[in-house]
Amino acid sequence: MAREVIVKLGGSVITDKSQPFSYRSDVVSALSEEIASSDQRAVLVHGGGSFGHTLAKQHGLSSEPAVSEAGAVSRTRAAMYELNSMLCKTMMDNRLFPYPFSPFDAVARAERGAVASWLRGLVKNGLTPVTFGDVTLAQPGPRILSGDVIMLELARILAPERCVFAVDVDGVYQTGTRVIIPELSPSRARKMRLPSGPDATGGMKLKLEVAAKIASLGPKVCFVSGYRRNEFAKALKGQEFYGTLVRA
Ligand SMILES: Nc1ncnc2c1ncn2[C@@H]1O[C@H](COP(=O)(O)OP(=O)(O)OP(=O)(O)O)[C@@H](O)[C@H]1O
Ligand SMILES: [Mg+2]
Repeated sequence: MAREVIVKLGGSVITDKSQPFSYRSDVVSALSEEIASSDQRAVLVHGGGSFGHTLAKQHGLSSEPAVSEAGAVSRTRAAMYELNSMLCKTMMDNRLFPYPFSPFDAVARAERGAVASWLRGLVKNGLTPVTFGDVTLAQPGPRILSGDVIMLELARILAPERCVFAVDVDGVYQTGTRVIIPELSPSRARKMRLPSGPDATGGMKLKLEVAAKIASLGPKVCFVSGYRRNEFAKALKGQEFYGTLVRA
């Protein structure tokens, strides 16, 4: 049986990060259509974009646990659930049957084999599992589990065929330029000097660290523009695409 493809729909794609709480339903519609018509066994993760990151920044939440008030956790989570709900509605309008879940319901807690069977069962029944960056409690306070880190955890759980990161750029640029790097080895991906960016989590720097780890496990990792549906579809199906491929 074909293995899964894990796809991260970047917050940079599904929202306009320059405008707080701006959801891009047209982009999600286009990507959903491509997923629905691809016949791939997709498992989805989405980022926070101008929902999660906006609230997290306002409240000083990040990947590092920090002391914070309960309202910060509630409000940031509420923004992520709101975005997730809009995304799932758009998916349903486009022939997909999403099965949303918080990463803490499964990925971050249960034993890997059990999570793999659960996810495969959902996919076999025509559902598309969808999870997202979320907030949890740690010491000394709440922290964010980034969608990029969830990609790594899901790759460990499912050993997928490949992982696709849809982003708002055409791939990974050579540092300080707009020149796309067609292919990166895990070691080169790890060594790239990148800003961690304004996000509450790690921006492109974290993404490449995650990609290097995933590619070292076996699956290829594609960075492709979420605004180019044809290139996204090619990456999804394992065809040659315009963007960056990270592979060992
Ligand atoms: N070398 C680089 N190549 C490509 N993009 C880069 C590079 N360095 C920094 N970036 C920035 O990384 C951004 C993508 O990362 P970002 O974390 O904003 O997206 P995302 O993960 O899709 O969003 P979210 O975190 O909300 O899910 C691009 O918009 C780009 O500006
Ligand atoms: Mg990000």
